[in-house]
Amino acid sequence: MERSLILLKPDCVQRRLIGRIISRFEDKGLNIVGMKLMQVTPDLAKQHYAEHVAKPFYPGLEAFITASPVVALVLEGLEAIRVIRDILGATSGLKAAAGTIRGDFSSSRQMNLVHASDGPEAAAREIGLYFTESELCDCTLSLTPWLR
Ligand code: TYD
Ligand code: MG
Repeated sequence: MERSLILLKPDCVQRRLIGRIISRFEDKGLNIVGMKLMQVTPDLAKQHYAEHVAKPFYPGLEAFITASPVVALVLEGLEAIRVIRDILGATSGLKAAAGTIRGDFSSSRQMNLVHASDGPEAAAREIGLYFTESELCDCTLSLTPWLR
């Protein structure tokens, strides 16, 4: 089992797409182990996007991600990190394939609705930025084995 940090970004929340986007993850069989509505601060944005802070697009990215609340989630499943990145599609909504979240709902490189961790180290680091251990629950323990 793998865990990944997901953000439903301000455009997703403002466009009232939270339910439809979470449905795609649930439909695939991923389990929610953490979830909250929260405001990203400039300081948290800089930690989250540390690899991008020096890039020319960063000021716009920070303004966007801190503009209004996001929904932070931790999703769990087999090969969850890759599976979720596949469900998201390419970074730019203009390049993302039809059938992916970004391909279906975004026509922007910046306002692309959802963040997802891109590897195991990033996932562990990002989950630690957004959630305390006590905020994560394993809801699969009570499931019958074939539904886990
Ligand atoms: P990146 O980590 O490259 O993409 P992804 O979200 O697919 O992992 O970039 C982080 C975010 O920065 C991306 O979701 C949107 C934004 N961004 C821009 O606004 N302009 C750009 O040229 C790039 C590459 C990213
Ligand atoms: Mg990335």
